Amino acid sequence: MGSSLEQDSVRAKNSGRTQDEEKRRQESAVDEKEIALARAAAAEACVLLKNDGHVLPLKKEEEVAVFGRCQYDWFYVGYGSGGDVNPPYLVNLMEGLDNCGAAYNWKLAETYRTWTQDPRYAADAGFWGHWPMSHPEMPVTEELVRAAALTSKTALIVIGRAAGEDRENTRTKGSYYLTDEETSLLDQVTAVFDRVVVVMDIGNIMDMAWTKNYADRLQAILICWQGGMESGNALCDVLYGDMAPCGRLADSIAVHYEDYSSSANFGNKEFNDYAEGIFVGYRYFDTFAKDKVLYPFGYGLSYTDFQMEVLSFTAPELREKIATPAGEMAASVRVTNTGSRPGKDVVLLWCSQPEGRMEKATKILAGFVKTKTLAPGESEELQIKTSLAQIASYDEEQSAFVLEKGDYRFFITEGGEDALQAGTWTIEEERITEQCEKAMTRDVDLKARILERMPEENKDPLIQSLSDEELEALTRGHGMMNSDLGVEGNAGAFGGVLESLREKGIRPVITSDGPAGLRLARYCALLICGTGQACTFNERLIEELYAKVGEEMVYHGTDVFLGPGMNIHRNPLCGRNFEYFSEDPLLSGKMAAAVVRGIQRSGKAACPKHFACNNQEVCRNINDARVSERALREIYLKNFEICVREGNPKTIMTSYNKINGVWSHYNYDLVTTVLRRQWGFDGVVITDWWMKKSKSPEFPELEDNAYRVRAQVDVLMPGSMNRLAKSYQSDGTLLKTLGQPEGIKRAELQRTAQNVLNLLKRLS
Ligand code: BGC
Repeated sequence: MGSSLEQDSVRAKNSGRTQDEEKRRQESAVDEKEIALARAAAAEACVLLKNDGHVLPLKKEEEVAVFGRCQYDWFYVGYGSGGDVNPPYLVNLMEGLDNCGAAYNWKLAETYRTWTQDPRYAADAGFWGHWPMSHPEMPVTEELVRAAALTSKTALIVIGRAAGEDRENTRTKGSYYLTDEETSLLDQVTAVFDRVVVVMDIGNIMDMAWTKNYADRLQAILICWQGGMESGNALCDVLYGDMAPCGRLADSIAVHYEDYSSSANFGNKEFNDYAEGIFVGYRYFDTFAKDKVLYPFGYGLSYTDFQMEVLSFTAPELREKIATPAGEMAASVRVTNTGSRPGKDVVLLWCSQPEGRMEKATKILAGFVKTKTLAPGESEELQIKTSLAQIASYDEEQSAFVLEKGDYRFFITEGGEDALQAGTWTIEEERITEQCEKAMTRDVDLKARILERMPEENKDPLIQSLSDEELEALTRGHGMMNSDLGVEGNAGAFGGVLESLREKGIRPVITSDGPAGLRLARYCALLICGTGQACTFNERLIEELYAKVGEEMVYHGTDVFLGPGMNIHRNPLCGRNFEYFSEDPLLSGKMAAAVVRGIQRSGKAACPKHFACNNQEVCRNINDARVSERALREIYLKNFEICVREGNPKTIMTSYNKINGVWSHYNYDLVTTVLRRQWGFDGVVITDWWMKKSKSPEFPELEDNAYRVRAQVDVLMPGSMNRLAKSYQSDGTLLKTLGQPEGIKRAELQRTAQNVLNLLKRLS
């Protein structure tokens, strides 16, 4: 193709690792189908923000000059448990160009390659909690840029960022903002080249205000996200038009950080007041600050054009006083590719709820679909469904989801732009769609609630046969991470953690992180980060992808995948946003459900996390999320609700933080009242790794593990309260009060044992 002899020599150096990679791939369970899905997901995630003069797609035979060190030092994923995968191989941008046979400026590439390999400038790997958020950019001279422009008409500039667990983004240059070196690179390259494309290798929204400064000096901006092991290949699929970009933003990009509604109440140590209530992301911008958005939620361009038509809209008739939450509405649309290239489109169904007693956002996302690849001129008819549950509001006075009376206007948009009316549904009288119980506020008599719902003695013979020690063992993990009961590199084991339990046929349950792939001391596929997954708006693709991860789990013998990570992107600085999906609960919930269905197809378990409100990394173990009941129900729990109802996960993980003063791992209302009783979750609830010590305010004799088990947080992971212990050490808090009047009851221990045994039956 467009490559030269000189380029071939650079290519040979780029691909020096190929043999090793092949060996690793053979040791892994990663097959061609998984690779193809990983690549497709990373390509479908790409969001094209700008494409003036149709500078993209590039042509393989036209040499491109690639600037920015991330062309080699690619950020494939974020940091911490969620990204710490050992992939069999990694494809950076330059290897992607090589693989697809695209011509690039080999001299420039060689300059970057040599520089990035020079020990003085080599990218720092960092260490836990201190990983680099960006790498210092290679300074370029005007001469170098001019020399590159002699043979290359188009310049590509790569900007990369990463953050992670225990590693919050910061409002500093090199994290949320560009560094001075990056700015001068942009200045220098845009001063010389007429065609400049910026590629953003990020896991999370960063400041994009600078794009305005360059205006028409910058022709295209493509966010490709941290794309996992197939990053370079997937990016080239889009850059060269093998696939038209079809990702849409899963978050709003504000003009300035200060414009986000949570920015005044984020990052505090002890607590954050969620003063913005339900007005998170586009719910806030649309309603109060339209002009503060640079690129809206749902935005994304293509190389082709689409036209939409609404064919019909159906809504249920309401006869009963309590409307069933499953009552469905559906819009039928026809999407036609009116452009000249094949491509996929995303259609969003929005609902504008009537103003009433409760304040409403201008619009909320009610549903979405993605088309298949449409050839030029081709059409597809699709149905977008939504439900009454999705468009109801939570009324704190009645502790119920209600539909206030008035007009519910539905409309559809494509790429976040012009709206087409789909239909209006009017109700004359307010309806309750679901009666709930007041929960997670201080004005509930929690003690009375708990006592009233004490479980009965369990008569199951196996449960009856369990000793106190065995019952205790079923409420905690084996002790430490990388348990010797499971595959190397696991995150811990629970279930059959005692010899005596194993003799009774209760086997150990092995957990391993996610979500960007399996974190084991084995080679496993590294997938595109969660934000990118959400931007695909393609539930089916994500489900298929994770079905392959489920197969890897079978191969490596691990049972519980510690993912999806699915906290709401409340604020763009949250270090783990890359693991999570979106600012919107529906998109987040649907994507999480897709991951769960995929993983569980193999008979294994998914473990959505972190339930709930783990919206920042700073002081995540002590921070209190002070949030209204309504915002909880409509935003921060809603995504988990959708995931539980539609994905039916076998396990779930609580978060480290407190919600309204109560740590999630002690939160009876969160885990029993809402998750189990209201949503019907019947699996195992595990803690995030270790937990904070505390006493129950309702039952002051109960401490730590007893307090937790009463809440029905079944299993403490990885087991010991002592983080440094090499094997399990009981802290004695669970059994201490057994038999005392308000102490832990045997029936409560049996309830947890039953939950764990049920899980074992459901695992294959
Ligand atoms: C993280 C979890 C993870 C667990 C096990 C915790 O620190 O918050 O997301 O699954 O460790 O690695």
